[in-house]
Amino acid sequence: MNTHTHFTLRNGMNLPSIGYGTWLIPNDHASSCVFNAIQQGYRLIDTAEAYANEQGVGEGIQQAINQDLVTRQDIILTTKLAAEFKTYDRACTAIDHSLEKAHVDHFDLMLIHAPQPWDHFREGKYYEGNREAWKALEQAYNDGKISAIGVANFEEDDLTDLMDHCSIQPMVNQILCHIGNTPQNLIDFCHQNSICVEGYSPIAHGAALSHTTISQLAEKYHVTPTQLCLRYDMQLGIIPLPKTENADHMAENLKTNFTITDDDMKQLHNLPKYAYDVDGEWACFQKA
Ligand SMILES: NC(=O)c1ccc[n+]([C@@H]2O[C@H](COP(=O)([O-])OP(=O)(O)OC[C@H]3O[C@@H](n4cnc5c(N)ncnc54)[C@H](OP(=O)(O)O)[C@@H]3O)[C@@H](O)[C@H]2O)c1
Repeated sequence: MNTHTHFTLRNGMNLPSIGYGTWLIPNDHASSCVFNAIQQGYRLIDTAEAYANEQGVGEGIQQAINQDLVTRQDIILTTKLAAEFKTYDRACTAIDHSLEKAHVDHFDLMLIHAPQPWDHFREGKYYEGNREAWKALEQAYNDGKISAIGVANFEEDDLTDLMDHCSIQPMVNQILCHIGNTPQNLIDFCHQNSICVEGYSPIAHGAALSHTTISQLAEKYHVTPTQLCLRYDMQLGIIPLPKTENADHMAENLKTNFTITDDDMKQLHNLPKYAYDVDGEWACFQKA
């Protein structure tokens, strides 16, 4: 598998094997970052209503089109419906707002950002609200405003409920997946149900860079810790979405054409679980 591999969604749309994440990139910096990313070769761009940078992301894509680097058809622009919008009407309005902000006539992929509103993340179930939000995505899909639809942060039961009640099956689940945090059962469930998996925070939000075992294994393959992390996700059959504002890092993160052995994959898979502190903030990796 290399960066030219494509994943084909159940509706026939192809996704590249790596994407570019934009969380925490301020709106006024997003256009130059996205332009740089496209110039370097990224074609899958990930934003969200909640990132407050859809406008800048859309501008960056438009600049790349204006300079003939790409056509709109070359780009997979992904955004996410805010996790708080759990009614059909609210979701329909939000989809239109996102289109206006990004200044595009369609998104290539749109995801429900999370099964629960963020204030209640992993607390309780919002099956009915997710069905409502999904109906709005289905409507926008049928109207040509979105070319593919999916979810993010959905667990198996959230997916099962949606799949049992929807007309169009979810095509993508974007989930937290990095060395030290690999939800293998959920990945398997998605793959068994023809749901493409995207891995967010593939570098553990940067924390993986200082992990001893990751650094040692990276040296063995003559790659950087980041490249090892991205390749790890790829060999799990998922699409990593690294975020960087640094042009050198953008280029580095595209060089993943090497193979981690099965034994080393196992070792990385079994590293102690990445630790979070009580507030859910990022904490340091446990030393291996
Ligand atoms: N669906 C969801 O709920 C959800 C949640 C979180 C994230 N996401 C998506 O996933 C994307 C990535 O996740 P993330 O932003 O949490 O974290 P990440 O990609 O795991 O890590 C980003 C950090 O790594 C650094 N970095 C990247 N490449 C590097 C390199 N080659 N060398 C050294 N440092 C490097 C970046 O710094 P520099 O900028 O300085 O390079 C940044 O500090 C997000 O941007 C977003 O699109 C989705």
